[in-house]
Formats: sequence, structure tokens, C-alpha cells
Amino acid sequence: MELVTIEVRSERAPYRVLVGRGLASQAAAWLPAEAGGLVVVSCPPVWRAVGARVRRVAGPKVVLIPDGERAKKLATVGKLYEAFVRRRLDRAGVVVAVGGGVVGDVAGFAAATYLRGVRLVQVATSLLAQVDSAVGGKVGVNLPSGKNLVGAFHAPSVVVCDPEVLRTLPRREFRAGLYEVIKYGVIRSKELFERLERRPDHLDPGAADLPEIIAACCRIKADVVSEDEREAGPRRVLNFGHTIGHALEALTAYRRFRHGEAIAYGMLAAARISTRRRLLAPDDERRLQAMIAALGPLPPVADLRAGDALEIVGRDKKRVRGRLTFVLARGLGDTEMAADVSATELIAAMRAIGLKP
Ligand SMILES: NC(=O)c1ccc[n+]([C@@H]2O[C@H](COP(=O)([O-])OP(=O)(O)OC[C@H]3O[C@@H](n4cnc5c(N)ncnc54)[C@H](O)[C@@H]3O)[C@@H](O)[C@H]2O)c1
Ligand SMILES: [Zn+2]
Repeated sequence: MELVTIEVRSERAPYRVLVGRGLASQAAAWLPAEAGGLVVVSCPPVWRAVGARVRRVAGPKVVLIPDGERAKKLATVGKLYEAFVRRRLDRAGVVVAVGGGVVGDVAGFAAATYLRGVRLVQVATSLLAQVDSAVGGKVGVNLPSGKNLVGAFHAPSVVVCDPEVLRTLPRREFRAGLYEVIKYGVIRSKELFERLERRPDHLDPGAADLPEIIAACCRIKADVVSEDEREAGPRRVLNFGHTIGHALEALTAYRRFRHGEAIAYGMLAAARISTRRRLLAPDDERRLQAMIAALGPLPPVADLRAGDALEIVGRDKKRVRGRLTFVLARGLGDTEMAADVSATELIAAMRAIGLKP
């Protein structure tokens, strides 16, 4: 098995992201030597699909939480604490999160807070988790009043990305993850962008170079979070496409879009503003549009009002002292922060991607 190792610097201790086909079933390669026991956390669809691969590690000890974003709440964390106590997980113990971003965020938050913090292994099973959520140490849950409002920074001991497990991932989920892959190309790597552009078959989890593509994304995320673990500044480049993307998700009560799909719209809008400001060449904007279009149709936005989306942008939790830093594309592979993006520019961009006035 070809194995790529990426180092991430972290306040607590550096950790590794491992990428390789077949890795999930080779726990010896990633399971920390431990004495305090081990609890695997997963959800039913993931466990059905990949449980057999990690079962040898988990034995009968897996704790299943319900599937989906609705499980990402404090009540689930409470259930996990109880399961940890029942299984006598002590301070030397390890929580192994096997799943997508939801399992990683909830189990990660439980690991961050149980006994003031126990070790966490992230076995990322969705493309989004492999290229984004499992790397960087952010964990947390939603409140009824909003997404990700409670959380912590809790760096994992190791992140395991096995592209083989993506074969069972629903196609729409795979595609949603690809939009985040495109984001990395736009913000940091023209090479990655062009590699995606040349490869119409990159949609396939069996693609020979998928491990390399995942590793390229993890390397970019690792670089960014190593510089800025707690999101004081540089980490904000990862928010490219996310200001308007989040607004679209909120506007549709998180029901219409998979996160990546909303980000695809957000990237198109951010590219529009970048082109208008002459930071991005019109031809490069068209290349991004073509790439996103090639992945297939996105859920509709024509019934959504730009004014309503703008109001939500105004409440974005990532505002610092009332100012919104907007990430713009400076060519393909570079970004620029702008604190002065106007309501007029935002509305024009949202109209350009198809929202109504
Ligand atoms: N912590 C961070 O830095 C960070 C970053 C980005 C997103 N997130 C969070 O991640 C979450 C979204 O993650 P997601 O897109 O992975 O969603 P998810 O965890 O809900 O997974 C998507 C669906 O795919 C299924 N699935 C996952 N892996 C599978 C596999 N190998 N085979 C079959 N089915 C599989 C899941 O059961 C689920 O139904 C959101 O809550 C978001 O807030 C966190
Ligand atoms: Zn995202």
C-alpha cells in the first residue's frame, strides 16, 4: 500500500494525516499504543459500510449515534459521555471516530471534554471529512439556534484517510466533497485546479490518483492550520465561498443543500466579485464555472431572495468586531482578503448566480 504522511503542527502536539488505500483495515498503522481502553464511535450507515474493516480494532465496543446533522447536538454528547463511563474509558483512553464530519465533530467534542480531554483518532469516511473536517482540530455541535455554536479546538492524535471507504459513500455526498477539493485549488494550488480540470473522471472514488488529490488537499489544510490553529487570521482563507454559501444553507434551513453544494454557489459568487474587482481574469472565472457545471446540476436558487441572503451574511458569526472579511480569488491559486465588500457587490454577485432580487 502506498502511504502518504502529512505532518500537522499543533499547540498540543504535532500529529499526522495518513492517506492510503486500504488503511482503514490496518489499524496497526494508526492506532496509538494505549493502556486506558478504546471506544469506537460511528453511525449506522457508516458502520454497515466500513465496520467490517475496523471491527478487529473495535471488537464489540462500538457506540453508534444516529445518522445525520440532527445528531450533532449536546444530547448526543451526553449519551457518549455515559457510554465512555460504562466502558471505563480513562484518561489514557482513546476515542476513535469512524465517520463523516458529523461523527467526527460530535465524537471529537465528547473526546475534547470528557475527563478534560482524551485522545482522539479520526477515521474519516466521507470525502468532506477526509479533505476538510477531520484535519485541523475543530470539533463541536449545533444548538437549536444555530450551527456549530458550541465547540473546542482538540487536535486529533492521527487522521486516517482511506479512499477505499469512499466507494460506499452516496454519490451526492462524494460530489459535495469535490466542491471543497475545488476550493483548495482556487485558494492555494493552480496545479491542483488544473489537475481536476484535465480529469473528467475524477468523480470516481476508484480513480487512480484520488489518494494524491486527497493528500494535496490535506497538505493545504495542514499548512494553513499549522500557521493558525485557532483561526486568528490566515485560517480564514479556508472560508472562500463560505460567506454566501452559509447564507444559502441558513436561508433554506439546512435542508436543500449539502454543505459543499452551497459552497459551490458561494465560490461562484466570490469569483464574480473577484472578477469585477479585476483580481481574477474573466477566463479563469469561466474555468471555475465550467468545472462546477461539469460536476452536474446544483439544487435551485431561483426562488431565493438576494436581500434575504444579504441579511444573513450580515449576521455571519465569523465577523470580527462587526467587520466581515471576505475571501476573494487573486487569480487561480491565490487569495486576497477584503473588508470592504459592499452590499451592492454582494447583491450583484448573488443575482449573477441566480438568486432573485
Ligand atoms: N470540524 C471542522 O473543521 C469541519 C469542517 C467542515 C465541516 N464540518 C462539519 O462536517 C459535517 C458534514 O460532514 P459530512 O459531509 O461528512 O456529513 P455526514 O457526516 O453527515 O456524512 C454524510 C452522509 O454520508 C454517510 N457516510 C459517510 N461515510 C460513508 C461511507 N464511507 N459509506 C457510506 N456512507 C457514508 C453518513 O452516514 C451520512 O449519511 C457538518 O456538520 C459540518 O459542520 C466540520
Ligand atoms: Zn466547507
